[in-house]
Amino acid sequence: MISWINKKEFNQRSEVMYRNNFAKKSLELNVEEVINKYTYLDYNKAYKIVELIKKYIPKSLSGVGLELGAGTGIFSSILASNNINHIYAIELVPALAELVIPRVAKKYLQNKKGKVIPVHGSFDNIKLPDESIDFIFEYDSFHHSNDLKNTFFESYKKLKSGGTLIMFDKCHSDSLSDEEIDDMLNITFSKELLKDQGLHEDLIITRRQNGEHEYRKQEWLSAIKDCGFKVLLFRKFYNKVHLKQLYWYILSKFKLKNEYHQNLILIFLAQRFGIIFENSIGITPMKETGFKGKTLGILQKL
Ligand SMILES: C[S@@+](CC[C@H](N)C(=O)[O-])C[C@H]1O[C@@H](n2cnc3c(N)ncnc32)[C@H](O)[C@@H]1O
Repeated sequence: MISWINKKEFNQRSEVMYRNNFAKKSLELNVEEVINKYTYLDYNKAYKIVELIKKYIPKSLSGVGLELGAGTGIFSSILASNNINHIYAIELVPALAELVIPRVAKKYLQNKKGKVIPVHGSFDNIKLPDESIDFIFEYDSFHHSNDLKNTFFESYKKLKSGGTLIMFDKCHSDSLSDEEIDDMLNITFSKELLKDQGLHEDLIITRRQNGEHEYRKQEWLSAIKDCGFKVLLFRKFYNKVHLKQLYWYILSKFKLKNEYHQNLILIFLAQRFGIIFENSIGITPMKETGFKGKTLGILQKL
């Protein structure tokens, strides 16, 4: 493992402590269980995500990559099984970088495990030469950034020109109010989650204390564009819309209020016919279904 930060520098932050506890405790579990408990994913689902992304990126994955906020490193292992040189799996939680990422790479890459290089570091301070990286991938980690512009700019500097940043993250419609965001961040950990992380069941930990943010479309896009990225794709996954739902929606004279319903016709057209309209109210829908709530962004450094 490479270390770019002093363990003490971040370990006092509550969210790092919780995840560090989890990583240490996870040694009792097998690799599939660790991945499932940490990100609610399994190998097949993560593999499908990478295959889908490959359909949309401008050129095939090659050279040197970064995974930012790598967690268990499952995506780094899958990306490394492509024709790339190697990938740095950068993670703020030391025990994940030290214990979990190498374990996951060993399981899925075996004698090619060296293609994944675990790094204890922050995506806001990447200690690699500028313009040295071919592609960057992040899954559900940039919404932990305290300053999206700073985070995107750090990635921008490290990419070679023509390099791609692939983000698969949570993005909300601009219509989401501050109160709604507060409510989401005030949700507390379930007893089961506390137990999984080796914490006392009576503790009260909010999603805010876990380092989460709920960024809206405009916040993502202005950070991305301010840094100079060209947005090749920025679309959201929705559940499959059935004809019957559309029928009731139209009969209700479009009265249903939440973002999903505001977009129902656009989602249907995208999913059924691949007809994509840019959407000023919500977020332009993906044609594909199955990763509900996530947004895929493909960004290029020109
Ligand atoms: C929701 S998890 C996703 C993990 C991983 N992408 C996966 O799919 O398993 C977000 C991860 O981002 C990490 N993270 C948060 N802030 C970070 C930072 N500044 N630098 C690097 N990693 C960070 C967290 O520790 C956490 O492991």
